[in-house]
Amino acid sequence: MIEQLRRQLSESVAYIRGRCTVRPQVAIVLGSGLGEAVAGLQAEASISYADIPHFPVSTVEGHAGRLLLGTWAGKQVAVLSGRFHYYEGYSMQQVVYPIRVVRRLGAELILITNASGGLNPDIHTGELMVVCDHINLVSDHPLRGPNDEELGPRFPDQHAVYDRALMEAALAVAKQQGIRLHQGVYVGVPGPTFETPAEYRFLRLIGGDAVGMSTVPEVIAAHHMGMRILCISVITDEGTTAVPQRVTHEEVVKAAQQAAPLMMKLMEGVLESIE
Ligand code: HPA
Repeated sequence: MIEQLRRQLSESVAYIRGRCTVRPQVAIVLGSGLGEAVAGLQAEASISYADIPHFPVSTVEGHAGRLLLGTWAGKQVAVLSGRFHYYEGYSMQQVVYPIRVVRRLGAELILITNASGGLNPDIHTGELMVVCDHINLVSDHPLRGPNDEELGPRFPDQHAVYDRALMEAALAVAKQQGIRLHQGVYVGVPGPTFETPAEYRFLRLIGGDAVGMSTVPEVIAAHHMGMRILCISVITDEGTTAVPQRVTHEEVVKAAQQAAPLMMKLMEGVLESIE
């Protein structure tokens, strides 16, 4: 199993390196509706996931399924435009496969974005939240099974998964640019149902500020491999309003699209700030 994963990763990386000379230092994962958040990237290559050996193929609406490689703010960057969600039926190993590939490509730092439901009543639709911690409520786990010590340790510590310096950088950029940026705890759920009103209240009670169906497995895998992580959520709906509100995927994507320019400014500023 370990040998097979190593071989697959090597083949994916060899294919990508054969298509382009970019050697990414930073990886970016784009959430639903956030394609425009990387409009500042000078792309040198745009590779369909379907062409990369061993990559799963993405199916969900609002996800393009392409790996973009290029330069942005003077950094060599790999962008995963389209992600694999557990609710689509992928295994956890498939969900985190692209994260392992970008790490093998050389990325040491990862900026993960997502669309999520607001739990904290002070955080409103269209606003951004930098994730300072998470609660994993997805029962399956990306690190279950034999552990490859070459990737990371068997029992990874989780006391500081999100990089403090990157969070500070994001907060500084937000302040400078006049962007309202909250800090909070992201609760990862499997989906694909949105939450019932009672579930939203429960997730708020246990300490969540936002809830979403992605990110946590990716973060666990990235941290396992020693990557520095910054995660920014766009709040696309509010789960704990006095009168429960209907949530639709279309509204989630629309709210994320509207927030994409803010996300772009924030990411650009963070990229400029790193060495
Ligand atoms: N719940 C779970 N996932 C989500 C939500 C939500 O309200 N909004 C966007 N992704």
